[in-house]
Amino acid sequence: MEGELLLLLSVIFLLQGTCGCPEKCFCHSSSNSVDCSHQGLAEIPPDLPPETLTLLLQDNQIRQLPALAFRTVPRLKTLNLSNNSLSELAPEAFHGLQHLQVLNLTHNSLLSLESRLFHSLPQLRELDLSSNNISHLPKSLGEPWENLTVFAVQQNQLQHLSRELLESMPRVRLLLLQNNLWKCNRHLLGLKLWLETFIYEGGRTDGVICESPDTWKGKDLLKIPHELYQPCPPPPPPELVSSQAGQHESEHGKVPKLPEDHSLGQQQVSGCEVKPKPRPANLRHAMATVVITGVVCGIVCLMMLVAAIYGCTYAAITAQGHGRPSAQTSESGKAEGKEPFDSLPA
Ligand SMILES: *[C@@H]1O[C@H](CO)[C@@H](O)[C@H](O)[C@H]1NC(C)=O
Ligand SMILES: *[C@@H]1O[C@H](CO)[C@@H](O)[C@H](O)[C@H]1NC(C)=O
Ligand SMILES: *[C@@H]1O[C@H](CO)[C@@H](O)[C@H](O)[C@H]1NC(C)=O
Ligand SMILES: *[C@@H]1O[C@H](CO)[C@@H](O)[C@H](O)[C@H]1NC(C)=O
Ligand SMILES: *[C@@H]1O[C@H](CO)[C@@H](O)[C@H](O)[C@H]1NC(C)=O
Repeated sequence: MEGELLLLLSVIFLLQGTCGCPEKCFCHSSSNSVDCSHQGLAEIPPDLPPETLTLLLQDNQIRQLPALAFRTVPRLKTLNLSNNSLSELAPEAFHGLQHLQVLNLTHNSLLSLESRLFHSLPQLRELDLSSNNISHLPKSLGEPWENLTVFAVQQNQLQHLSRELLESMPRVRLLLLQNNLWKCNRHLLGLKLWLETFIYEGGRTDGVICESPDTWKGKDLLKIPHELYQPCPPPPPPELVSSQAGQHESEHGKVPKLPEDHSLGQQQVSGCEVKPKPRPANLRHAMATVVITGVVCGIVCLMMLVAAIYGCTYAAITAQGHGRPSAQTSESGKAEGKEPFDSLPA
């Protein structure tokens, strides 16, 4: 009798425990977590308890996520999809996950991500995309991702990361970037400048090690001087320039020393796009400018003088015509007094 009761009770308990919990998963009702990890699953189990807060799907063989893949668990806060075979995510895959805070997508085969994918995750705090094959991230997210504090893209194939994208994560405190194919050219200057401010303000990062070009391979992006990003490297040290200038002077004996020093400094730099102009031509050009300016000035001054004389004469004649001798003498006196000053600059 007692044994039968016990059996009945345990059957009821078992039924209750498994009710609403998908096959191959373990449901922990106290923490509202569902653990379906390491079960060889190829897709998301369809009958997840709607109150689930934590869903562990790591170490399975899920290949893709359809749109609204998690619509049955809208309260989800933590989602672990680490170590699956995900290569494709529908842009609306995470739609409806208004409360998701932690998303782990590490160890998959993702190639790129769209900004639309993340618009549906307003509360996200930690996004881990490490160990995928991502070569392309969106340039920006459009609207800021207010609550994101951890962003990890280690072990991917990224060459660039746009400053706009990072700027749309105003609260990020931990940024993991190592082991990508960082191409340390002008496109990465924005990232470098952003990182400098980020670290200065207390942010943490594992750093950016350049993969290309060959000159910077293995170098830390933050330790490469800013000059790298300018079209021309800085001029060589003065000793080098003066020795070179000496050589050059013997070839073209007549060329003045000082200007030549400077133009050689620019010529020296190999692969520099700025073409130095020969100084003598510059001198000739300057001389021509002075002459032309002088001539134009002279003509203008002459014209002003003529106008002044004409004006004075006209005034004198008009005054005479009106028959006011006293006014005439005083005005002509003024005009005569002015004239020498006016003509001085000419
Ligand atoms: C990934 O998952 C597979 C099973 O799908 C497992 O055998 C393997 O050990 C897991 N790898 C890691 C790094 O956990
Ligand atoms: C996700 O799964 C991985 C692999 O099992 C584990 O190391 C990690 O701690 C999990 N992360 C979360 C947030 O559950
Ligand atoms: C994601 O899972 C990996 C293991 O696969 C773990 O090392 C990492 O810490 C997890 N990331 C987060 C944000 O929990
Ligand atoms: C960020 O998190 C806080 C606290 O959980 C929440 O009130 C706020 O709405 C979140 N921000 C966004 C944009 O959802
Ligand atoms: C992803 O990258 C790994 C090495 O990082 C490589 O072995 C694998 O073939 C790549 N997969 C795809 C689909 O590109």
